[in-house]
Parts: sequence; C-alpha cells; structure tokens
Amino acid sequence: MKTIVMLATSVGIAVPLNVGAADTRTIWVQNCASCHAKDGSGSTMMGRKLGVKDYRDPTFQGAFSDAEAERAIREGVKTNGKETMKPFGTKLSDSDIKGLVKYIRSFKK
Ligand code: HEC
Repeated sequence: MKTIVMLATSVGIAVPLNVGAADTRTIWVQNCASCHAKDGSGSTMMGRKLGVKDYRDPTFQGAFSDAEAERAIREGVKTNGKETMKPFGTKLSDSDIKGLVKYIRSFKK
C-alpha cells in the first residue's frame, strides 16, 4: 500500500520538477521557495506552518553541515515523524543538490 502511494506521488510530481539544466536559482524558486522563501528566510505561509528556519541567521547555518544539508535535500526532512519536506533525490542531480547547498550558504548575513 505504501509503495503504491509513493509511486503515485512521484509520478504526480515528475513533470513540474523536471528541471533539467535549469540554474540553481530557478530550481530554488520553483521547488524550495514555497516553504523556504526566495531569500531563505522561511517567511512564507508554509514555512511558518512547518517551522522552517531563517537561513539568513548564522546560528541556523551553523546547525547543519553541507553533508547534512545534501542529505536533507536527497532524503527529505521529518519533524516528529511526519514528513515536512519531501525528498528531492530522484528529481535533482548530484550537481543540482550541491549547487543548492552553496546557494543556501549564500543567504547567510
Ligand atoms: C513543503 C515545504 C518545504 C519545501 C518545498 C522544501 N523544504 Fe527544505 N525544509 C522544510 C522544513 C520544514 C525543514 C525543517 C526545518 C528547517 O530546518 O528549517 C527543512 C529543512 C531544510 C534544510 C536543513 C536540513 C537540516 O539538516 O537542518 C535544507 C538544507 C533544506 N530544507 C533545503 C531545501 C531545498 C534545497 C529545497 C528545494 C529543492 C527544499 N528544502 C524544499 C520544508 C521544505
């Protein structure tokens, strides 16, 4: 049952997330900004609801390593056992993911 649900989900999002060679900023705006905001502040309706942190704040930048950020993007994020950020590992290439981590680091004030 779980497999069927997950399959349906990945088919459903396959088209809009097929970003190909899009640049990192476009990927961020299209896939991440709905929660994390364009400026990384997390001040969106979804971001506030899900408790997204302000990545302009050096404290939160220091709270995760590059490797942890990559893993979060690949495997998603769970908060109290509930998926709050879905995995992007099958949608984004390794170089896209590494580019996103760099991009997130650039929010730091
Ligand atoms: C549906 C909302 C949502 C979307 C869309 C989303 N995220 Fe997240 N993300 C979250 C939440 C919730 C957290 C956990 C709270 C936090 O650390 O800010 C999180 C955490 C993170 C973290 C920190 C992980 C850690 O180890 O602390 C990174 C990095 C991240 N997201 C990157 C991305 C990238 C890149 C994208 C787009 C490809 C993206 N997110 C899309 C909700 C989302």
